[in-house]
Amino acid sequence: MNDLIFRPRRLRRTPLLRRMVQETSLDAADFIYPLFVRHGSGLQIPIRSMPGQCQWSPDTLVVEASRAFDEGIPAVILFGIPETKDACGSENWNPEGIIPTTIRALKKACPELLVISDMCFCEYTDHGHCGVLDEAGYLLNDPTLELLGKASVVHAEAGADIIAPSGMMDGMIGAIRGALDSAGLVNTVTMSYAAKYASGFYGPFRDAAESPPQFGDRGQYQMDPANRREALREVALDVEQGADILMVKPALAYLDIIREVRDAYELPLAAYQVSGEYAMLHAAAQNGWIDLQRCALESLVSIKRAGADMILTYFARDAVRWLAER
Ligand code: PBG
Repeated sequence: MNDLIFRPRRLRRTPLLRRMVQETSLDAADFIYPLFVRHGSGLQIPIRSMPGQCQWSPDTLVVEASRAFDEGIPAVILFGIPETKDACGSENWNPEGIIPTTIRALKKACPELLVISDMCFCEYTDHGHCGVLDEAGYLLNDPTLELLGKASVVHAEAGADIIAPSGMMDGMIGAIRGALDSAGLVNTVTMSYAAKYASGFYGPFRDAAESPPQFGDRGQYQMDPANRREALREVALDVEQGADILMVKPALAYLDIIREVRDAYELPLAAYQVSGEYAMLHAAAQNGWIDLQRCALESLVSIKRAGADMILTYFARDAVRWLAER
């Protein structure tokens, strides 16, 4: 007879025992579903590098988002592909632009669904950077802040519940909060992409949103993947400026950052499982090297275990189905 006192395997003996001691679980209410929208009608254009994801037109997006809502997903985040682009991204504050138009249609069809507007200029500028540039091609921070405020008011007036600035401009939360409050939109929530890294995992998104930078990269505004103290500093600044919800992005390669932000702040925390994380799992599964459902759910539960309260994920609808099947 062995004299072992502790036998952790005792609690793993049966499926029911394992379920009883499970520390983290996933639920439809955890997910935020990202959707891409362009002008037109009846569109459902598959995105090659993101199997199962599409560019929608406002009418088909409403159907897709309503399905997600009926399945228990509380929120969608919208990315627009505008008809025209210019140097300052003026289509972003056009009240008849793609996002305001889509938000109004969504709110009419499905008023309770939370609509998040990704607030950035890269989809709207002809140079593909996240704001206005000087002659040398340097992204000007403060002039961009003013435009972010202006566009946020337009999206919020169209019905967006949450404005989520993703451009990593200094002061973006303060500027947007100020603009919303001045317009009387005190209850519009801000969700800050507070710690957003300059990541290779955004690759497929740039096909999906048709927004690659035409020169250079985003290293002058997004963070160096090597940095952790800087992430805490970025989060602190957004908290001071009044952010309601924080976000870390990407998720899987930054689980340590999610945990640190979770431990250091009380605000709700989101994490973005980005396009490259989604594409990577699909690609390996298509080769027969991993099981998609198992690995996708494992990734999602890891993100939640690390401390995220909510997860932006292209797997949202799949995950809800898989969880129900289990
Ligand atoms: C816009 C934005 C990007 C993503 C979300 N908002 C692209 C980028 O920063 O280059 C990436 C999302 C994804 O890869 O799924 N600034």
